[in-house]
Amino acid sequence: MFAHGEAIYNSSSDNLWQLMKEHQRLTTFLDDLQHNCINQHNQLDCSHCDRGALASCRGQLPSYFHDLIDLCSIHFYREEVLIAQELQGLAAHQNLRKHHQAHAGILKKIGGIIGECALINEKKQTDEAYRFLYKSLTQLFAEHDAEFDEELARCIHEKHGRVNSAQTL
Ligand SMILES: [Fe+2]
Repeated sequence: MFAHGEAIYNSSSDNLWQLMKEHQRLTTFLDDLQHNCINQHNQLDCSHCDRGALASCRGQLPSYFHDLIDLCSIHFYREEVLIAQELQGLAAHQNLRKHHQAHAGILKKIGGIIGECALINEKKQTDEAYRFLYKSLTQLFAEHDAEFDEELARCIHEKHGRVNSAQTL
């Protein structure tokens, strides 16, 4: 997931550096999401948790929604700026319009996922809400990675190799 993260480590470009930090935040976000509900990886539900734990889990979900939209909006925009400004002539630049449309599509899908997740949570199936959110997001991001961000990572490597000799990126 987040294929371009590794490519970013070797560059001094400010856009790339910011992308790397956002990439780390997204990875941490998914890790937190996965571990927030202790029943994520078993067949137990919220009836096995005490009232305090359940209230905490339910209460935290909206902040995950907020962070998710915030993180994705910024990260996608910065990716597009980087492609437009620094990857001219490379495949990622030629596919920028489609990549932008894919980002918009993801944000729209995230809106639907959040709505569905909130409904599940409202039914007091908070364990299921966390499972649904994590599974939906990892699937969505993996698909996007395969279609666009793996190519972006290749282009960053290509640019980095070229620019490295000029010592500017
Ligand atoms: Fe992307």
